Amino acid sequence: MTSPKLLPLNDGRTIPQLGFGVYKIDDADVDGPLEHAFEVGYRHIDTAALYHNEAGVGRAIGASGIARDELFITTKLWNDRHLDAKAAFHESLDKLGLDYVDLYLIHWPAPKYNQAFLTAWQDMIELRAAGEIRSIGVCNFRAEDLDELAATGVLPTVNQIELHPSFPQTEMAAKNASLGVLTESWSPLGRSADLDHPVTTQIADALGATTAQVILAWHLAHGYVVIPKSTKPERIQQNWDSLDVSLTPEQIAQLDGLDQGNRIGPDPAEFS
Ligand code: A2P
Repeated sequence: MTSPKLLPLNDGRTIPQLGFGVYKIDDADVDGPLEHAFEVGYRHIDTAALYHNEAGVGRAIGASGIARDELFITTKLWNDRHLDAKAAFHESLDKLGLDYVDLYLIHWPAPKYNQAFLTAWQDMIELRAAGEIRSIGVCNFRAEDLDELAATGVLPTVNQIELHPSFPQTEMAAKNASLGVLTESWSPLGRSADLDHPVTTQIADALGATTAQVILAWHLAHGYVVIPKSTKPERIQQNWDSLDVSLTPEQIAQLDGLDQGNRIGPDPAEFS
């Protein structure tokens, strides 16, 4: 079985390049998909306080019997807790039933709260020093937000942003790379919107792969961390098997050409 690469983080740790996202899976429904994901081989799970399924993720981890140190668990701080990050983090940790998380992320810069994310960041640095968080990072940060964090002297390990072929965020990914921050793609399939493009379909036909696998292989080829979500066993397997799909430089360039500025989630400049 092919395993995801372990990509180096700027704090000396590593992250499995392919993970399993659980956005929009209800707590009561998350056990089945996670059980299947663990069976298939996923060890990196991406949740958030906002998803209200951390308890279910914790249940599934416990039921899996997989050793804690083989897992990579991410959760995220919600926007209205930036001034209260330690308490919010401990609530997440309790729900997960864990002693530590591998990656804790500020979910949005949330401009309405006037850079309160800087207060959260200091708390996260302390939680990391206390051993309750292995690595710290952010989501949906713009270039100017990253520059503010950089001024604290501690850079995020990752910036998880909406990224898919019709919204490739080329400049933001370059900004992340220039700071040594890994880009992690959320909604890597564009919530299905990118699956039917004729270019993707033609590449999938040529490779005997599905369009979802072609898109995931494109993320992997770019060196992004990618966390596809599915509740369906065959898709959970199929997405894992994208690890065995390799694109030619020409195919990558073709997919790079699909930018339509097609943002499907909120704009971080406005969203709080
Ligand atoms: P489902 O959970 O019913 O499989 P994104 O990760 O870009 O937000 O996209 C998630 C959406 O894509 C979900 O609606 C999920 O639906 C669907 N999806 C996930 N994997 C696949 C796949 N391999 N083929 C088609 N649709 C998929």
